[in-house]
Amino acid sequence: MAEIENSKLTVVGAGSVGASLAYAALIRGSARHVALYDINAAKAEAEVLDLAHGTQFTGSSTITGGADVGVIEGSNVIVITAGAKQEPGQSRLDLAGTNVRILEKLLPSLLEQAPDATYVLVTNPCDVLTVVAQKISGLPSHRVFSSGTVLDTSRLRVLLARRAGVATSSVHAYIVGEHGDTEFPLWSNASIGTVPLLDWGGGSVFAADELDDIAAEVRDAAYAVIRGKGATNYAIGLSGARIVEALLQDEHAVMPVSTVLSDYHGIDGIALSVPSIVSASGVRPIRETPFSAQEESRLRASGDALRTSLASLGY
Ligand code: LAC
Repeated sequence: MAEIENSKLTVVGAGSVGASLAYAALIRGSARHVALYDINAAKAEAEVLDLAHGTQFTGSSTITGGADVGVIEGSNVIVITAGAKQEPGQSRLDLAGTNVRILEKLLPSLLEQAPDATYVLVTNPCDVLTVVAQKISGLPSHRVFSSGTVLDTSRLRVLLARRAGVATSSVHAYIVGEHGDTEFPLWSNASIGTVPLLDWGGGSVFAADELDDIAAEVRDAAYAVIRGKGATNYAIGLSGARIVEALLQDEHAVMPVSTVLSDYHGIDGIALSVPSIVSASGVRPIRETPFSAQEESRLRASGDALRTSLASLGY
């Protein structure tokens, strides 16, 4: 994998998520070169123009793109955002049929142009699409994964930090499982600094029943945003740009991305988000992550929900 200075990120899909991710990557300098690919030439070219017009104010990253799949040639990382988005009240799994078919058509042409890239699925249901992408591409599971619950974990940390009165970066808590309705927090090893979450403020800040409310607020966050503005885009764009940086800068950062698990706490063949090391060689789930008995059973239940969706699609 290239270091930042000669690295190339392609974002596939110039909708609100793809354009926001490209925008975030330019501002953060996530990659030296950003390409935006979409089969809708007018949309892709307009987004590229609009983004390029602002590059005087960003770092040294450049932006190109369009509807010719050749724009992705030489990419080190390809982030796939193309597909149908949730309508108000629709679950991410409801999108599976439509977006799996789009991915089946799209992925072969991407692999032809960039066979050595690492592929990151953002399109939902991202865990289901990760299993499908891994099967279609034959890529090793460490090179085809999804943003998973990186965004949900950010939502959780923002809520906890606000209640505890600390910086978000000092909150160590993860959402794991499906990026969807069966996701859940790993409360058993959540902490603020070195203090277990439940002990924070002498046990006066986070009551056990309040944690359920916080978990529900995180799980339902996207629905709330979609009700108000029709889609989420900024936070997922930033989450995607952050993952790209960890890959391109070989950070070995711990992030809850979703890869196809093998013999992970007894789970095989399903993509779920668990704390993982993200580096230039891709993603490695951290097997030593402790789960309580209840958490392990919830992880399995999350996997079962995805297995049902995959089976209905012939995967
Ligand atoms: C969300 C979308 C990206 O959670 O699934 O905002």
